[in-house]
Amino acid sequence: MSALTTSQSTSTSQPADATSQTKDGWSAALYGKAANFVYSSAFTSPVMNLLEPKSGERILDLGCGTGELTATLARAVGPDGYVSGVDASANMVAKAREVVAASRAETSHVPMAPVDLLVADAQTLQLSPEQEGTFDAVFSNATLHWCSRDPLAALQSAARALRPGGRFAAEMGGMGNCIGVRAAIHSALQRRGRDPAAVDPWFFPSVEEYSTLLTRAGFTIREISLVPRVTPLPEGLSGWLRMFAKHSFLGNLEEAEAEEIIKEVAEAMAVDCRDREGRWSMMYVRLRFSAVKEE
Ligand code: BEZ
Repeated sequence: MSALTTSQSTSTSQPADATSQTKDGWSAALYGKAANFVYSSAFTSPVMNLLEPKSGERILDLGCGTGELTATLARAVGPDGYVSGVDASANMVAKAREVVAASRAETSHVPMAPVDLLVADAQTLQLSPEQEGTFDAVFSNATLHWCSRDPLAALQSAARALRPGGRFAAEMGGMGNCIGVRAAIHSALQRRGRDPAAVDPWFFPSVEEYSTLLTRAGFTIREISLVPRVTPLPEGLSGWLRMFAKHSFLGNLEEAEAEEIIKEVAEAMAVDCRDREGRWSMMYVRLRFSAVKEE
């Protein structure tokens, strides 16, 4: 679920990356290990419930990542509906194609909607004239905080996709997300004479800040709130940092220095993020909202 690159294509399947991060910085395999909570039903049911997908609807999944939720949406709208998933990472989209195809094969007793998956950054998304203004709903999970370069443009993309009265339900990192960890990364970079603000990829807005943007993009807000959530880290904080910070915050550093910072941050944060039995978790704060495109 990313918005770091700006490529846009409808290219056909390519094998998903096995273990390492690719040139767009995202490893679908690492994502499945270090961040599978992102698409677990325990964590995604609140935003899915806000969306209320209905049979026959056309839904855009903005930041589809590895496609698990795209497949859920395709089952929810059924064979008379349609789902399009977009993600800025070609590696994620390649994995999403595999996941959606496997889900279709495994659950053939639950007919799914047709699904199109394409590489596109939410901030620069250009739908075809035939698709623009035709979606009943836009869904987005764990993506919009990556749209720090132009958050308004990402919301305008959602608005352009929707028909008048169409729904937008999303969850993203909000103010206070990754509290402590983000500050520890900043400190580690500052100590090395580097400017963390220049490489910080995240936008974790307050309710007020994001409400202003949603309204400017033409949405009427139905509900919006910040929700704290302790999030388990199956690969520890180091695994999480390798997945989510190494290609952004630490992307300009040599491997050895990046790994040194990861170790330093994990050690500094252990007091807050590791329990006595050695299990790691960290505090996420979700900004969750539902809005409607003005008629
Ligand atoms: C999030 O989903 O809140 C998140 C994911 C990765 C990095 C930062 C935040």
